Order: sequence, then C-alpha cells, then structure tokens
Amino acid sequence: MSKVSRIQEKIAKAIWIMRQKTKNAVVIVILGACWGDEGKGKVVAFYARQADLAIRATGGANAGHTIYIGDHKIATHIIPSAIVNKGTICLIGRSVEVDIDILLGEIEEVYNLGIEDVYERLKIAGVANVTLPYHKALDKLEDAVKFEPVGTTGKGIGPTVESLVRRTGLKVYDLLLPVKDLAVKIKEDGKFIKPLFDKYGKIVKDRKGERLFTDEQLNEIDGYFVNPESLAEKYHEYGRKLSKMIVDGQRLVDTYYYDNSKTIVVEGAQAIRLSIETGDFPMVTSTDSNTLGTLSGSFLPHNAPSEVIVCAKSHFTRVGQGVFPTEYKSHIDYYGSLTEYSPEEAYIGDTMRDDDGEYGASTGRPRRCGAPDKVLMSNSVRVAGADAICLNCVDQEGEFGKKVGKLQICEKYEYQGKVIEFFPADINLTNEVPTPVYKDFEGGWTITSDMEEYEDLPESARKFIEAFEEGLGAPVKYIGVGPHNDDLIIRLDKF
Ligand code: GDP
Ligand code: IMO
Ligand code: MG
Repeated sequence: MSKVSRIQEKIAKAIWIMRQKTKNAVVIVILGACWGDEGKGKVVAFYARQADLAIRATGGANAGHTIYIGDHKIATHIIPSAIVNKGTICLIGRSVEVDIDILLGEIEEVYNLGIEDVYERLKIAGVANVTLPYHKALDKLEDAVKFEPVGTTGKGIGPTVESLVRRTGLKVYDLLLPVKDLAVKIKEDGKFIKPLFDKYGKIVKDRKGERLFTDEQLNEIDGYFVNPESLAEKYHEYGRKLSKMIVDGQRLVDTYYYDNSKTIVVEGAQAIRLSIETGDFPMVTSTDSNTLGTLSGSFLPHNAPSEVIVCAKSHFTRVGQGVFPTEYKSHIDYYGSLTEYSPEEAYIGDTMRDDDGEYGASTGRPRRCGAPDKVLMSNSVRVAGADAICLNCVDQEGEFGKKVGKLQICEKYEYQGKVIEFFPADINLTNEVPTPVYKDFEGGWTITSDMEEYEDLPESARKFIEAFEEGLGAPVKYIGVGPHNDDLIIRLDKF
C-alpha cells in the first residue's frame, strides 16, 4: 500500500469517528494558534483529500499558505488551499477581503499546475469584500503615519475592513453592477479616503526617510476618486470574468452542512493572537481569525465544528510588530535592517531563521523566531475551544537543537514580580514583556517524512512533544514531519 493510500485510510477513520457524533456534516476547522504561518495550509491540503466542501473564511492576501501541487510548492493567498484536491468544491467565504488581481493570478497559477477544473470548483461568496487598489495604498499610508506602525503586509486588509465598517465598501456582488453604478459606489467610498491622501500623501515617509508615494502614484490614486469610471470599468470586467463563480454562499454551505454524509474543511487564516478580537491589540490584523469569526466567515453556526484544530510550529515565529516573550535575538529585523545585536549575539535566533527557512510566504520578510511557548498555547487552546493541536516542523528541531546546544520550551512566565501561567492582557498598559521560564531539551533527533506512526519517532522527539502537550487542555493529535501535504502523523488513538 502506498503512503497516500495509508493516509487516505487514516483520514477516513478519523472522519468516521467524527461523523458518529453529529447529525450534520463533519466540519473540521483549522486555525493558527500563534501569530500565523503555523502550517495551516498543509493541514487543509491533508484533510482536503476527503472534503466535499472547503471554505476560506477570513483575511485576504495577507495570508500565505504553503502547499504542494505535485512537486510544486506554492503559497495560496486567497484561493482555498483545498483546490489541490480534485474532488473538493472550494468557497471563498464571507469575511474574506478579495483582491481580484491576486485571485486571478492564483487561478491561472493552479490551472497551469494541472488544476484544470479550477473554474468549475472555485466559488466566491457574493457578499465577500473587495480590496481595491486604493485600499493597498491606504494600508501603506496609514501604517507609515502611525507613531507605532503595526508592520502590516500592505495588502489593503485594514482599509478594506474600514470601508466595510463605514458601510461604503464594495461586495463581490457589486462587480456585477453596470459600470456607472459601480463608479458611484467607488466615489462614495473615496469621499472618506481621498482627504487622507490629500493631507498626508506628499509628506508621508518610508523607513528610509524617503517619500512613500511619488507624484505620479498620487495622481493615479487621486484619479480613482475624481474619475472612478475607469476603475469601475476594470472591476466590472473582472465581475464579468468571475460571474459564473459568484454564488450565494449561505445556500451553498447549507446544502453541504445539513447533510450527514458530507465533510467540510474550514481554512482559517492568520491566528488567534493576530485576531482583532482575541489577539495582541493593536498589533493585530483586522478580522477575527479565532473560531467564531472563522465560522461566521464560513456561513456556519457556532456549534458546527466536529473538531477545531489549532496549529503551531515547534519553534514559534512572528512577522511584524508586537509582543513575543520567547523571541530569540536576531541580527536583522523583519524588514531585513540590522538590529542592535551582532551575528555572534544573535547566533541562536539567526540559526533558527536561516536553517528553518523562516521567511514570509506572502511578503518574503524575515520572520522573528523564538522558542515554543506553552503559556501562549494553553491560552489559545482555551479561547479557540480547541479539540486538537497540530504541532508542525518537529523534524526541524532535532538538528537545530544539536547545532545550538539545546532546545527550550517555555513553561511559565515571570511577570510583575510573580510567576504566572496565563497570557497577561495588560501588556500594553504595563509595557512589560513577560520573562519566560524554560525547560531544556537536548534535541539531536532525526525525523524523516516516511515516519507515519507516533511510535516511529525517536524517543527524544516524543519526550519533547509530550512535554509540550502536557497540561495544554487538548491533545497533540497531529505532528508535522515535513513540509509536504501528507507529511503529518495523525494519532488515531487520541480520537
Ligand atoms: P500557514 O500560513 O499557516 O499556512 O503557514 P506558512 O505556509 O506561511 O508557513 C509554514 C512553513 O512551514 C512553510 O514553509 C511550510 O512549508 C513549512 N512546514 C509546514 N509544516 C512543516 C513541517 O512539519 N516540517 C517542515 N520542515 N516544514 C513545515
Ligand atoms: P497566514 O494566514 C503571519 C501580520 C502582519 C502584521 C499584522 C497585521 O499566512 O498565517 P495585516 O496586513 O493583516 O493588516 O497585518 O498581522 N499577519 C500575518 N503574519 N501570517 C499571516 O497569515 C499574517 N497575516 C497578517 O505581519 O504584523
Ligand atoms: Mg503563512
């Protein structure tokens, strides 16, 4: 039997167990537990093998989910990662910020990689939000004007949500309007955005102290608002191209959800600590990437999940600004600029980033790296109501531990003179980063992607996983042993 057949069999068993406990479809929700990039895309592609419907729920092109189509590694941004599986219908959900330029590029990319039925299987909820070019420019402007920038991805997510909240934003359905009606909507949205460019456009500077926008770029942006017809024409044409894919998301999801023979995979984006509701505000994204936001973005009710899986890597990473208690020193920051630390002082952090390839799938930015943190993790398990943990990248830790001398897991924090075991919510008030209390491990193990059972893993790796799992409130049911879609150990005894 091939690896794929064995994996298929295990997934089928896991889904069968879940199906016994629900009268509706089996719904598997995959979320990030930390600050994004935990390998969610891979887990989605893994479960997609047996999914009838898959939904990309929140966020937009700020996400980059690495999956493999055959031997080709790609990062999906808006298109659902389950597109890799020929039998799965893939829906772009209600709370997604859809950048049509990027989406069309992704459709073409997967088509060229052999997913020729992408036009039939991909559906876009008509009520999803549209990111327009001026949202992307505004994202950069707003972050640069701020006293403390968030370090956003610049993909226009925040400003698209601002337009939504102001109730002037465009929905995907609007792209089907006549050009003149679409132009009126763009003009209305622009009423609130143009003054910001008028005020700051010429004076705002980038990190090097140079003008963020040239006069030419500012003229182009101004043109969107003063003379919105040409932008309206372009997006009307996009609407025409996509029209067969635009659907009533609720009706589509209902047909699958109220059928006990179906399986639905929900692809969360970003992560619990990046959620605007449950993350480290203000250093967060603009949508709720926790369980409830993700379900709402998927047209599913609160009690839909058969299993909520929170993903983490066995080393933690973050891109952009914000608290990171277990961060190792690095000699470059997430913009690639030199920090106060020399390469010698930053040996552990630099080694982790470079040896583990920690550069963003969406922006290519160097990721900040650190030790796995159980305080953060147990908080995420609770706030997500997680049923399972997926611990990815355990294969990378053995070599890293050997090279730098040890592996660390953060067990507790010292904060405000006390030892605590919860993630403090008042970090922004106290301006104090908790000091981690670590337990050390030797590392040194070798894990290969042909290890398919938990018992195949070296004892030292199992001890590390079990120490991480202990007391978190949900079992580590999935263990990542490599980057490919099938490089996951699934522990059926934990179901
Ligand atoms: P996502 O945004 O949560 O989907 O994660 P990203 O794709 O942004 O980042 C995860 C990175 O880790 C990608 O480069 C994946 O290929 C890689 N990855 C995921 N799981 C594993 C694993 O178990 N082992 C190894 N070596 N790499 C992994
Ligand atoms: P996936 O789905 C990692 C971070 C940005 C920034 C903050 C706000 O691949 O895990 P935004 O552009 O959303 O306004 O940026 O959130 N961020 C991510 N970091 N992975 C992601 O997505 C991210 N999406 C947003 O770096 O700190
Ligand atoms: Mg990512």
